[in-house]
Amino acid sequence: HSTAFTKPPVTVTVTGAAGTIGYAALFRVAAGAMLGRDQPVHLRLLELPAALGAAEGIAMELDDCALPQLASVEIFDDPRAAFDGVQQALLIGAKPRTKGMERADLLSANASVFSAQGKVLGEVAADDVRITVVGNPANTNAAIAARNAPDIPRERFSALTRLDHNRAIAQLAGRAEVPVTAISGITIWGNHSATQYPDIFHARAGELTGAALAADRDWLVDDFIPTVAQRGSAIIAARGASSAASAANGTIDHVRDWALGTAGDSWTSAAIVSPGVYGVPEGLVCSFPVRSDGTDWQIVEGLEINEFSRARIDASVAELQAEIAAVDAL
Ligand code: NAD
Ligand code: LMR
Repeated sequence: HSTAFTKPPVTVTVTGAAGTIGYAALFRVAAGAMLGRDQPVHLRLLELPAALGAAEGIAMELDDCALPQLASVEIFDDPRAAFDGVQQALLIGAKPRTKGMERADLLSANASVFSAQGKVLGEVAADDVRITVVGNPANTNAAIAARNAPDIPRERFSALTRLDHNRAIAQLAGRAEVPVTAISGITIWGNHSATQYPDIFHARAGELTGAALAADRDWLVDDFIPTVAQRGSAIIAARGASSAASAANGTIDHVRDWALGTAGDSWTSAAIVSPGVYGVPEGLVCSFPVRSDGTDWQIVEGLEINEFSRARIDASVAELQAEIAAVDAL
């Protein structure tokens, strides 16, 4: 495209671009759903050699959308070239789990990918790079990537729990019989896994408080929490493949809020490197309540954590520690 753009394009690299999440994400990213309708983007698609043909087909389809803000599309099988000067890195490419697996079963398969990519990012990414890990186990993969890129500030690494956050909003809205726009103050704590803790004690659902809804402990413990935490498995069982369009949507919401800022008083959830708050040991990539000023995530501080919540946050944090210990043993 030779259009004169009104703003300099942002370089976005998507790994696993020809996978199912990649296919669901790329067209919306190119259309401005992630960085804004007035923001041009250079799209870089990174794939394994075997999937380069499929990536070519996607690049052809992107051309065929004649999107005004799509400055360029390039395809790579070399991470160093794909990440050279990258500003927004979406690390989606990894093996997905199948029926009967937990996300942690992917640890050994995907750890080597994220250590290699972290190292290369540290060497060639732009100074303002932001990194979002979607490939599972997302939190620990992000921790591995961050460890391998000591020159990139820790706060530039994140892992996706926005899909879980959006799942929790949808479930609470259904329970309270209010539109999703009437929900605020939900937090996903911990790992993007079955131990994650969707916390509604600070939430509002229209006129109702989350604390009032949580008073129905049977619903909270036997319905709401497991429905949100095990939604990934339920999708795999129903679809025969892991969530893709909703994962792409969560990724776009996450990067949009990070890059453009969160609006209003409420917050969202993202897994970021713990600075050692809320009893989460420093260095773990843990989901927290966060806001963004358009540059960095800020953890929402000072929320009161009751005993019910404390035990569940601690259990998910213990799992994150076990995952890191397993990686260290590999
Ligand atoms: P998929 O198998 O359809 O696509 C993955 C793509 O990644 C494939 O095209 C593959 O060739 C590519 N790939 C694999 N290793 C790569 C590498 N080293 N470099 C570049 N590309 C590589 O899988 P999917 O359904 O798109 O899921 C991708 C990942 O996202 C999985 O790990 C899945 O579990 C995870 N996921 C995370 C969330 C979340 O909320 N965090 C939600 C859904 C899925
Ligand atoms: C999800 O939450 O849907 C994804 O992480 C896929 C999975 O393995 O559950």
